[in-house]
Amino acid sequence: MTKIVDIDWNNLGFSYIKTDYRYISFWKDGEWDNGTLSEDNKVHISEGSTALHYGQTVFEGMKAYRTKDGSINLFRPDQNAERMQRSCRRLMMPAIPTDAFIEAVKKVVKANEQYIPPYGTGGSLYLRPYMIGVGDNIGVKPAEEYLFSIFCMPVGAYFKGGLKPTNFMVSDYDRAAGNGTGAAKVGGNYGGSLLPGSEAHKRNFSDAIYLDPTTHTKIEEVGSANFFGITKDNKFVTPVSPSILPSITKYSLLYLAKERLGLEVIEGDVFIDQLDDFKEAGACGTAAVISPIGGIQNKDDFHVFYSETETGPVTKKLYEELTGIQYGDVEAPVGWIQ
Ligand code: COI
Repeated sequence: MTKIVDIDWNNLGFSYIKTDYRYISFWKDGEWDNGTLSEDNKVHISEGSTALHYGQTVFEGMKAYRTKDGSINLFRPDQNAERMQRSCRRLMMPAIPTDAFIEAVKKVVKANEQYIPPYGTGGSLYLRPYMIGVGDNIGVKPAEEYLFSIFCMPVGAYFKGGLKPTNFMVSDYDRAAGNGTGAAKVGGNYGGSLLPGSEAHKRNFSDAIYLDPTTHTKIEEVGSANFFGITKDNKFVTPVSPSILPSITKYSLLYLAKERLGLEVIEGDVFIDQLDDFKEAGACGTAAVISPIGGIQNKDDFHVFYSETETGPVTKKLYEELTGIQYGDVEAPVGWIQ
């Protein structure tokens, strides 16, 4: 267990911290057991588990926030539940009903309440729900047993700049195939991103940018986050493709850009040779929140958006709106906060 006194709330990064309790539940003979909170952060599974060999593993990322009045906010947990259900269907795993998912999330948050970063530090409690195929097996087929768990830890910024812009590079690797598993939150998508990500880090970029796997002309993803850009004529644009992970933050920004900032919003193509159309750009996701993109390296070309050191005004406004809702300072659209 990590002692609360040892946590530096104002300098949290995005690293594993062992907290007190995790939820754990098993599926066998066609049903889930009641689930318990466990103090043990190790899982003991069969060597034949499909998760270990065939990547039968899905996960989610979500956060709990401490508000000014001391209460705790969950941001759109129903959306995480539904996305996990879609991921489970893609990998032939037994989906968790939305109510049961949210109830388990709340149990984990309450049991680990002391690890939620104080209001004003900019930190949050990151929750990692995951499901893996377990049990004795060797053939390439869906497991007959599953483990569902949720653990959590306090986190700060995912990309080290936080709301300071950082630079990214276009990768030669593809993240996902056109009709593959890109839209599902499955472990394999992230395993495949490790090499391109590490090549980007070695060259001092925050992460790899992936182009569409068919034509390699359009932006799809920014590392493990989605891309958005603000055009010079003030449109909020984010790529559309069947191989992009549907980020809950991205869909929230599409709504906020339109309804709160009055921008025209477009889910459409973002051509890598037309970056000049954009005055600002960013990466968005639960972990990334909104991380401004200073510049993008594409082969020999380095394109700077607003600035390599300053965050553009539209990105800043979106960040304030989104995080204001998450921390309870700005009125949330109906149903977004629990
Ligand atoms: C998230 O934004 O929660 C993610 O899943 C990204 C990640 C750290 C893999």
